[in-house]
Amino acid sequence: MSVYELILKRRTIRRFKQDPVPEELLVRMVDAGRLAPSGGNLQPLEFVVVNDPELLPQVFAATRWAAYLGPEGTPAEGERPTAYIVVLINRNIRPDGGYHDAGAAMENMILVALEGGVGSCWIASLDRNALYRVLGIPQHCEIDSVLALGVPAETAVAEPMRDSIRYYRDEQGVHHVPKRPLASIAHHNRYGQKLVD
Ligand SMILES: Cc1cc2nc3c(=O)[nH]c(=O)nc-3n(C[C@H](O)[C@H](O)[C@H](O)COP(=O)(O)O)c2cc1C
Repeated sequence: MSVYELILKRRTIRRFKQDPVPEELLVRMVDAGRLAPSGGNLQPLEFVVVNDPELLPQVFAATRWAAYLGPEGTPAEGERPTAYIVVLINRNIRPDGGYHDAGAAMENMILVALEGGVGSCWIASLDRNALYRVLGIPQHCEIDSVLALGVPAETAVAEPMRDSIRYYRDEQGVHHVPKRPLASIAHHNRYGQKLVD
């Protein structure tokens, strides 16, 4: 599958089968994150891969899921992530910023996971204090966000946005993600001139 095809296919996944994420894939993902573009090539990012069965519930407890879906958006027992990658910004290397670097690394990791059959949910809504404690993260590292991972146990589809950006689940449990149409956000040469119809 081409990169473009993977990008079209990619959707956030919030329900997972309980098969483990292969450790080689986790390593490959972090390598893809490491090689992402970095402002000034400072490379302030560090990564904590979590798949220890004792730690998984503690990391899960620090994550907040699918605000638009209410309690049903949070994965139930038996459908929770089987691994996480925590993205850190080392403040000894870069005293502020670095968020673009983290975003670029995240997307690289998400696409490599998908190529390996693993779905993901990027989570920035976190109890960071709990993560510092549970994972022993030093204070000079800012916790940017967490990538929750597992083999997908749900179907999620993009659809053209009509009147709301709120994602929703239908009666079959399919997750729908409204996306603004290309014509409404793309300009050609001068703002307001159409790139596509
Ligand atoms: C910076 C960022 C933070 C996010 N934080 C959360 C989060 O805390 N919890 C969650 O369930 N989803 C989170 N998401 C996932 C978004 O809800 C999701 O990307 C959005 O609904 C679009 O769906 P899609 O990824 O399938 O295109 C986050 C995504 C991004 C980019």
